[in-house]
Amino acid sequence: MRTVDCDFLVIGSGLAGLLAAHHLAPHGRVLVASKRDLAESNTNYAQGGIACAIAPGDTIESHVEDTLSTGGGLGHEAAVRSILSDGPARIRELEALGISFERREGSGEEYDLGHEGGHSRRRVLHAGDITGQELIRVLLDVVANRPGITLCPNWMAIDLVTTGWLRLPGTDRCVGAYFIDRASGEIVAVRAGWTVLATGGAGKVYLYTTNPDVATGDGVALGWRVGLPVRNMEFVQFHPTCLYHPQAKSFLVSEAVRGEGGMLFSDAGERFMPRYDARAELAPRDVVARAIDHEMKKRGDPCVYLDITHKSADFLVNRFPNIYARCLKLGIDMARDRIPVVPAAHYCCGGLEADPSGRTALPGLFAVGEVACTGLHGANRLASNSLLEAVVCSRNAAVAIAAERQAAGVPAPVAIPDWASGDAVPSDEAVVVEHNWNEVRTCMWDYVGIVRTNKRLERALRRIRNLRAEIRQYYKQYLVTPDVIELRNLAAVAELIVRSAMQRTESRGLHYSLDYPAVDESVPGADTVLRDPPGGPIVAP
Ligand code: FAD
Ligand code: SIN
Repeated sequence: MRTVDCDFLVIGSGLAGLLAAHHLAPHGRVLVASKRDLAESNTNYAQGGIACAIAPGDTIESHVEDTLSTGGGLGHEAAVRSILSDGPARIRELEALGISFERREGSGEEYDLGHEGGHSRRRVLHAGDITGQELIRVLLDVVANRPGITLCPNWMAIDLVTTGWLRLPGTDRCVGAYFIDRASGEIVAVRAGWTVLATGGAGKVYLYTTNPDVATGDGVALGWRVGLPVRNMEFVQFHPTCLYHPQAKSFLVSEAVRGEGGMLFSDAGERFMPRYDARAELAPRDVVARAIDHEMKKRGDPCVYLDITHKSADFLVNRFPNIYARCLKLGIDMARDRIPVVPAAHYCCGGLEADPSGRTALPGLFAVGEVACTGLHGANRLASNSLLEAVVCSRNAAVAIAAERQAAGVPAPVAIPDWASGDAVPSDEAVVVEHNWNEVRTCMWDYVGIVRTNKRLERALRRIRNLRAEIRQYYKQYLVTPDVIELRNLAAVAELIVRSAMQRTESRGLHYSLDYPAVDESVPGADTVLRDPPGGPIVAP
């Protein structure tokens, strides 16, 4: 087994990981490991943009209010205030690195701001409708040219290594991680003074999602396996408008389209949103996704329709070039046709408990971006707040780590034992992995979706636990492969979502239960926190 040393290990190369690496580089050797191509990440598909109270007339206070109100009473006010207040300075920093946010034509310096659900005003900075792609393009260029940063694409983290697991004396601390190099199949141990988990979300836990294949919840599973508390996993955000077309896998139609006046219609031609909420199509996502779900189920329709045909082709091509082109390729001309859409799993509001600096309960380990739960989103994320959170918290983490390093120096590296494969043999049963993968995702879609019941959650828990037992056996019996690692993580995260949902005996934000349809006002601000001993729950499946 190869062992590689660095001062700072960053796992993930989305917005949070790349910025953490950029800010850490002046303080020591950085290694960025990412499980596929460096660009492949949720960030790369972000469309709407970054919410930030930066325009004249807007205030941090108004952004804080919208965030807390969308968060259904679970947002942590101090974290919300701290993250949002830092926004304008971090946006200027991104611009200095070379990101250019769109400005209004003929207005000189004024930003062209998008409007999205839950915001009381236009507040979303964007680069056309490919904001994420632009961020990744510029930041990959920045880190690739930065001395002191080593980039390791196709390195997938298998598990974190802690001094507790190594049975070393003293306070438990994260000292690195094991990886599998997808190109060679080789196992590599990385030893690091500090590890930053920036592994993103878990949309692939559901059958239908806007997320790319890399979003399998690895970071949450890694942290949970070393005993870290996991918070608010029941709050899975379903985006209301994923393109419904047999040839369109996971393609999002940005909320910004509704921000420009897009309206939702049922198959029968009724504009239904005003019946559900005074804010109609610009109500927060939980409200819009639930309304669509209800309309589709009530009428037995496979989708609803998004109509922006009142805007000219010129406007649409200019404002939504990517969405326009993609729809057109599939035979849908946004300027003339209604766009068929359905809700799909989009964002994981829960995650590893962390503060706005990404600090977790395990010394040496920071978690930033979608993998973390900082308290910003509460029970429902305000649109376009996640890119901002990734930008602010990754820099905070780097500052906190640099301060720790300056105060105490880099901890001496510890010996990491060779990866033990025991009697494992190469698998000749890939079909089992494929089958279990589909079963987890179908089970979560059918039983733990937008509307939940006790009975469905109990059924899901039984099934997921059976699958996890099978996966555990498989994991022991056969040599690890990236597919098995992802399946193991996917199933672990599925169980965490179900168990969290079972603990919440009310409906709040993104968690809606037919058995408890109202908010329980006697538990204001109550987060769901699961903390199992390292290795998982003691209760056998
Ligand atoms: P990611 O960008 O997902 O990066 C995670 C990285 O970790 C990837 O490089 C991945 O390969 C790597 N990784 C994962 N597991 C491992 C492992 N085991 N080992 C090594 N590497 C690993 N938010 C907004 O605020 N505004 C928007 O407009 C917006 N639009 C969106 C549109 C779409 C289609 C999607 C899917 C999301 C959107 N979001 C948006 C959400 C936002 O993009 C994400 O929450 C954010 O980009 C997360 O950034 P991140 O750096 O935490 O994770
Ligand atoms: C979108 O463009 O609709 C996505 C915005 C987000 O997820 O915040």
